[in-house]
Amino acid sequence: MIDMYLKWPLQARSVVENWGKYRVSGDFNEVVIVGMGGSGIVGDYIQVLSASTGSLPVYVVKSHLLPGFIDEKSLLIAVSYSGNTLETLLAVENAISRGLKPVIVSSGGLLRSKAEKHGLLYIPLPQGLLPRVSLPSMLYSILALLDSSGYSIVTSSEARDSVVLMEREINSGLSVVDELTKLLYRGLFENRLIIIATHTPLEALALRGKNEFNENSKIIVKVDVAPEWMHNDIVGYEALVSLKYSVVEIVDPGDTVGVKLVKFMDEVYRQHDSETYTLYLNGETLLEKLLYGSLILGLAGAKLAALRGIDPAETRSIVQYKKQAYTIFGIENK
Ligand code: F6R
Repeated sequence: MIDMYLKWPLQARSVVENWGKYRVSGDFNEVVIVGMGGSGIVGDYIQVLSASTGSLPVYVVKSHLLPGFIDEKSLLIAVSYSGNTLETLLAVENAISRGLKPVIVSSGGLLRSKAEKHGLLYIPLPQGLLPRVSLPSMLYSILALLDSSGYSIVTSSEARDSVVLMEREINSGLSVVDELTKLLYRGLFENRLIIIATHTPLEALALRGKNEFNENSKIIVKVDVAPEWMHNDIVGYEALVSLKYSVVEIVDPGDTVGVKLVKFMDEVYRQHDSETYTLYLNGETLLEKLLYGSLILGLAGAKLAALRGIDPAETRSIVQYKKQAYTIFGIENK
């Protein structure tokens, strides 16, 4: 698992080398990205990147329900690593029944068959990985598609630079991972709840970190995002009943307001006997910062699993849910 994370630069590079291979034509007003879990998070990343440097609004759908506003002016992209996630399949079927032609991104599965049957643009992902470790392939594939189709959020040269950053930062990142993992591991023996705290626009990264610790380390994690945190969560600390925290504070050092907001949160956490670790994001662009943070948090989740003697790759309860999902949704398993 750790090895798969360490190969992220290679994964990203292979998409960057083929930048321009896939494109869609059409006059779109918005991008809608459908997907769940480790695939759906790619939508969150593209949404925040687009808000920073893109030209179109990006909506993220993590559900079987497609919003009513979606029509032929929506560039619909369905991403599912396995290609078999029921919610994503149902959303795609719904889109097809509305006469739309979603782009499919998967490593195979039922979604690939659907793409073939309905003549949809299909972007293949490398096989033999797990959804969460395929983040670079999924993210860069969609960024490349958008850039090549005239809806650029990230250019090929920015993507190239971000690969160089990953290659450069991997070694120094490993000592950050060790330090962070030790703090979190110690905290588990003191029954500390892990909090990932950050400032906007990094909420997708905090969410990704939570998911990584959930899935790799089998741990419950809370996400706190400033400045919204100052308008509700903070009050929860006023009359606290004996809870202790290990807090991972994710900070963009170039964002002076963000730094001060997280410092404000830090002071509140510390009043409650919390242990805090500040993860400063390296990189120049938002894409680079998101990738750097994702790499550190993914590796930390996998290392924490190793310390706990847990297999980070196995996600038994997701498998169980996926078996029952057909019954829950009242659909015959094909
Ligand atoms: C992440 C993971 C899950 C899946 C989710 C959807 O590694 O295993 O979060 O991503 O269950 O499955 P896919 O990505 O195959 O559509």
